[in-house]
Amino acid sequence: PSYTSVSDLSNMTSIKIEKLIRDLTKMGFTNVTHNYILSREYVELVLSSYNYKVEDQTSSLTPETVYEELRSSVNPKNLKKRPPIVTIMGHVDHGKTTILDYLRNSTIVSNEHGGITQHIGAFQVKTPISKRTITFLDTPGHAAFLKMRERGATITDIVILVISAEDSLMPQTLEALKHARNSGNQMVVAITKIDRFSNPKQREAAIEKVNLDMMNHEIPIERIGGDVQVVPISARTGENMELLEESIVLLSDVMDLKAESGPQTTLEGYILESEMKKTTGNVSTILVTKGELRKGKVLICGNTYCKVRSIKNENGQDVSKATPAQAVEITGWKDLPGAGDEVIEAKNEATAKKYVAKRLAVIQTARESENVDRLNEQRATKAL
Ligand code: GTP
Ligand code: MG
Repeated sequence: PSYTSVSDLSNMTSIKIEKLIRDLTKMGFTNVTHNYILSREYVELVLSSYNYKVEDQTSSLTPETVYEELRSSVNPKNLKKRPPIVTIMGHVDHGKTTILDYLRNSTIVSNEHGGITQHIGAFQVKTPISKRTITFLDTPGHAAFLKMRERGATITDIVILVISAEDSLMPQTLEALKHARNSGNQMVVAITKIDRFSNPKQREAAIEKVNLDMMNHEIPIERIGGDVQVVPISARTGENMELLEESIVLLSDVMDLKAESGPQTTLEGYILESEMKKTTGNVSTILVTKGELRKGKVLICGNTYCKVRSIKNENGQDVSKATPAQAVEITGWKDLPGAGDEVIEAKNEATAKKYVAKRLAVIQTARESENVDRLNEQRATKAL
């Protein structure tokens, strides 16, 4: 058990209760009686002073570290180039969804009520000129991203900061800027809606205004010797969209993005979204960050696990595998995993079950020791 009263401890160890109370008092515990409750770490301390051995070490683990030992040790030999993971940020209505929509070549904007983005989309594009892959994630303000950010996990490499040529910098532009700076993301600026200006002079002036405003906010754009590329685009007409894509490719080459992948590497990733569907059961979108996702593999996430039953890409097509920086939809979860939670591979279902049980035990122990602390505090207050 993770906590024990002094009398229980006496029964378990056949150490006389009077002796226990005396020894505990000597150790520094105050107001010790037969029903004084000891949390696990103190039980261990007491037992070790009587030369009792405590077998398992769950007490030093936290729910976050239980799965650490499942990670494969790093092996630079398995490093392979991977696509950049890009999010688009910017002020309301400046055209984030329209850019993604153009890239994905679908009709998300017209499907949305009021044009507000309602779910995380993750998809890959092949750039038209260099034929390279880019992963785009929609909606970085989503709960999953906030959760990941809280834990210091940044899964995004590059932020496209979208600024409308009509409005220039607005409050949420500055917020996005702050975020990009804090998270250490690289940035590319897209000055968008340039098709709104049919007069070339007016168009130039609008673009110039955005540039000046950026300089005033100390955005290190290339024009002043910085490394932030600025691309004026129209997501409506498609003007300069290839240029924007190639800017990202260029930047990702400079960043030299790599991840360990292949069958040797234990799969790792993050849940982007998670949903119970009537037809297929628990479905989640997982972003692979390491290793290789394949059907039949066993994954753990939080207190649940999954034997991967199906893998679908963003177009709903069945695929045989997914590699780092790829987001796919999988089925097979026992319970719904949480958006933003980390995923790690286990050798088999037995291992997964064992680790999930271990994690549950750690959580239970943490809860109980919290309760014990509170209880002893209350008793001490009463005793005064
Ligand atoms: P939120 O998700 O609500 O923050 O907005 P958003 O940044 O995703 O903007 P969205 O893509 O929904 O675009 C807002 C409006 O601007 C829509 O009516 C788009 O059709 C329009 N729009 C976006 N990009 C362009 C563009 O390049 N040119 C023109 N003319 N209109 C654009
Ligand atoms: Mg949108």
